[in-house]
Amino acid sequence: MPGKKKVALVTGANRGIGFETARQLGQKDVTVILAARTYEAAQQAAQKLIAEGIAVYPLALDITRDADRKAAAREVEARFGVLDILVNNAGIGGEGGILNPRTIETSEEELQTVFGTNLFSVIALTREFLPLLRKSDAGRIVNLSSILGSLTLQASPASPIAPMKAFAYNASKTALNQFTVHLAAELKDTSVKVNSAHPGWVRTELGTQHAQLDVADGAKTSVDLALAGADSPNGKFIHAGQELPW
Ligand SMILES: NC(=O)c1ccc[n+]([C@@H]2O[C@H](COP(=O)([O-])OP(=O)(O)OC[C@H]3O[C@@H](n4cnc5c(N)ncnc54)[C@H](OP(=O)(O)O)[C@@H]3O)[C@@H](O)[C@H]2O)c1
Repeated sequence: MPGKKKVALVTGANRGIGFETARQLGQKDVTVILAARTYEAAQQAAQKLIAEGIAVYPLALDITRDADRKAAAREVEARFGVLDILVNNAGIGGEGGILNPRTIETSEEELQTVFGTNLFSVIALTREFLPLLRKSDAGRIVNLSSILGSLTLQASPASPIAPMKAFAYNASKTALNQFTVHLAAELKDTSVKVNSAHPGWVRTELGTQHAQLDVADGAKTSVDLALAGADSPNGKFIHAGQELPW
């Protein structure tokens, strides 16, 4: 008898890596809740996947809004009763691009905005959905981080990413990695696994058109971690099946 279909929620799924993650999970027979900042954006993106024969449900979820987070959790509970996969994909860059180091000039406003989306909202959203993830036989939380948040590589002048010192963005991803480590440790005796994913340098609005990977390849790490089995990593920082240094 075929198993029950998994249910996944992908944030920031109206475009970029999130949209492609929704598509690839749907192609693997996962029921996908396609979340976007507005219902219109979610619905427009969902229509494209529905036209491809993929089962997706549009959901309005600005991750920075507490009311949206709470309403989203209520809606998923009412419709599905469980959440198997949470892909914390939505994220924003800072000002000035990654090749424009301006650490000491970074304003408090920029730090608040970037940390607000990339860290605080991810923590708050995960808190809302944890009760539903705990109901899954194999709950998976995938936090979209970045290799630019690796302290080890940022502190190694020879590393290819060392010149890319966009402070607000990089620090927000470093802190997100700490959230991954802490939450994974807290949930280690449960069926819920938590990992950080680096998607690669991907051609999206954030990654720019100069990036190496197309979105099809850029979504693979998220999809692999979302569907990872019981013997898979927990509390790790992964790109394309390989562990990255924190
Ligand atoms: N591209 C890369 O090379 C790369 C590398 C490393 C890590 N990443 C990470 O991968 C993730 C996806 O990046 P991407 O390249 O696909 O970026 P993108 O093309 O700029 O897309 C970002 C997505 O996040 C959404 N978003 C931003 N703030 C939101 C909010 N408050 N509530 C809900 N959705 C929100 C955007 O929605 P709107 O359309 O409404 O703005 C959009 O759907 C990010 O976390 C990023 O840091 C990307």
